[in-house]
Amino acid sequence: MYILAIESSCDEMSMSIVKDGVEEICTVTNTQIDIHKEFGGVVPEIASRSHIENVTIVLDELLQRSGFTIDKIDAIGVTYGPGLIGSLMIGVQCAKTISLVTGKPLIPVHHIAGHIYANNLEKRLEFPLIALVVSGGHTDLVYMGRDYSFKRIGSTLDDAIGEAYDKVAKVCGLSYPGGPVVDKLAKLGKDTYDLPYPLDDDSYDFSFSGIKSAVVNLVHNESQRGNAIRVEDMCTSFQNRVVKVVVKKTMRALKEYKANNLVLAGGVAANSYLRNELSEACKRENINFGYPRIAYCTDNAAMIGSAAYYAYKNGKIADLTLNAVAVESFYNE
Ligand code: KG4
Ligand code: ZN
Repeated sequence: MYILAIESSCDEMSMSIVKDGVEEICTVTNTQIDIHKEFGGVVPEIASRSHIENVTIVLDELLQRSGFTIDKIDAIGVTYGPGLIGSLMIGVQCAKTISLVTGKPLIPVHHIAGHIYANNLEKRLEFPLIALVVSGGHTDLVYMGRDYSFKRIGSTLDDAIGEAYDKVAKVCGLSYPGGPVVDKLAKLGKDTYDLPYPLDDDSYDFSFSGIKSAVVNLVHNESQRGNAIRVEDMCTSFQNRVVKVVVKKTMRALKEYKANNLVLAGGVAANSYLRNELSEACKRENINFGYPRIAYCTDNAAMIGSAAYYAYKNGKIADLTLNAVAVESFYNE
C-alpha cells in the first residue's frame, strides 16, 4: 500500500510516499528555518503564507522525483493536528482535494503519532513499548500495548523540553533553533552553574519552567553587573539536569509498565547527550532502545506516512469534513 503523506503543522511543508508503513520511497521537504531565524522563532502568519506558496510545488517535485503519478497512490495521510492552525489547514486542504479528485481514502494522523512512528521506518515497533516524545511542543511519556494505541502516562505541566532548550539558547545569545547549538556547546563546558532540577517527583509529569527561569534570571543578573556568562558551562549545567530527570522518569516508566522496548521521538530526540544517557541506561536494564535518524527526528512527512498505514489498519478514515485542530489529545486507551 502506497500512502502519500502530508505534514505542514509548523514551519515545514513536507510530502512523502511511504510503502506499507515501513519503507520511505521519496520525501520532499520545504523548510522555512532561514525565514524564521531573524525573528528567533516561528511566526505563525509567515509560516502559513509560505506554505500556501509551496504546497503545490512540493507535491509536484515529489511526483517528479519519485516517478509516481497520483493514480498509483492508494491513500492520503495528513497531519490534522496539533500544531499551528493556519499551517495545518493548508496540508489538510491539499489532502482533502487529492482525496476528492482520486476517490482514495483520507487518513487523519496525529502529529505525535507520526513522531513515534518515525521509529518504525528504522525498525518495526515491538510492543509493549514506552515512547518518550520530546519536541518543541511536547514532552510526553506514552505507553503502547499494540499498534496505533496510545496511553499518555505523563506530560509537561508547563514548557515543552524543546521550548526550554530554545529559550535558554536565546537568552545566551545563540542562534535559532537553539536545541542543536546547546547540544553542541554542552559538550565543551563544565557543570558549574547551580541550577534547580526540573520536577523530580513520583509522577511521570515534567516541568521545565523553573530551570528555564533560573537560567534567564541568572543571565540577566550577571549582565546587569556587567559580567559575561560562560555559555558552554551554562549549556552543560542546563542539559545535565534536564536529561537526568527525563532519563530517570523514563526508566521508571519502563519498569512499572513492564515494557521491554523504548523509542525516542520528536525534534529533541536528535540530542546526542539524551541518546547516550538513555542508551547506557537501557543497556544496564536490558531494554531494547531505538531512535530515529536525525532526518526523521524533526518534522517530516515520512513519519506521517508510516503512522497513516497503522491508523488506516485501525479503521481511522476521515471524510471530507476533516478539519485541522490546533490542540488535541489523542491518547486513546
Ligand atoms: O519535533 P520538532 O521538529 O517540532 C515540533 O513538533 O515541535 O522539534 C523541534 C525542537 C526545537 O525546539 C529544537 O530546538 C529541538 O527540537 N532540537 C533539539 C536538537 N535538535 C532539535 N533540542 C536539543 N538537542 C538537539 N540536538
Ligand atoms: Zn514535530
